[in-house]
Amino acid sequence: MRRLTTTVSVISCAHGDAWFGMTATAVTSVCAEPPAILVCINGTSAIHSPLISSKRFCVNMLRVGQEAVSQAFSGKLKGMDRFTAGSWSQSDGGLPYLETAQANLFCRTEQVVPFGTHSIFIGAVEWVQLADRIEPLLYEDGRYVRSAGLLEGTEPT
Ligand SMILES: Cc1cc2nc3c(=O)[nH]c(=O)nc-3n(C[C@H](O)[C@H](O)[C@H](O)COP(=O)(O)O)c2cc1C
Repeated sequence: MRRLTTTVSVISCAHGDAWFGMTATAVTSVCAEPPAILVCINGTSAIHSPLISSKRFCVNMLRVGQEAVSQAFSGKLKGMDRFTAGSWSQSDGGLPYLETAQANLFCRTEQVVPFGTHSIFIGAVEWVQLADRIEPLLYEDGRYVRSAGLLEGTEPT
């Protein structure tokens, strides 16, 4: 899987008075009708149990320059201290979201499928917030990289 280049996201949720967040690259579109995505979360991670209880989560897709946010949410910081990395707000629905992410996908958990060490959370996307600039923070072969356009001048499909 080191050969699979992926956008780095932080999965966030709220449970009780606390916020939880974790860096994840196992984030994939499931379908557009209805809009749904999946995220794979290790059962040993601190966010796993609050994610199951809260039934709502936000996928915050990071952009270039947010490497420190990724590091904070993958072990460098713990608990609520993680939210000192980057500028975080609370949505009307009570979900923490990264204001400067390139995209925030606000989801309602529809299914949780346990498999091996992980659980696959399938979320219905209820609301999306997009930044104008698309400059994803990518992860490849254990390091952060950026994307480069090919076939410049062509229209996006
Ligand atoms: C770039 C990157 C991607 C990661 N992707 C995932 C992932 O998709 N799912 C997962 O369970 N852990 C993933 N991790 C590991 C967790 O972020 C890390 O183990 C985290 O510290 C676990 O949360 P905890 O410290 O709150 O228990 C990733 C880590 C990094 C650095």
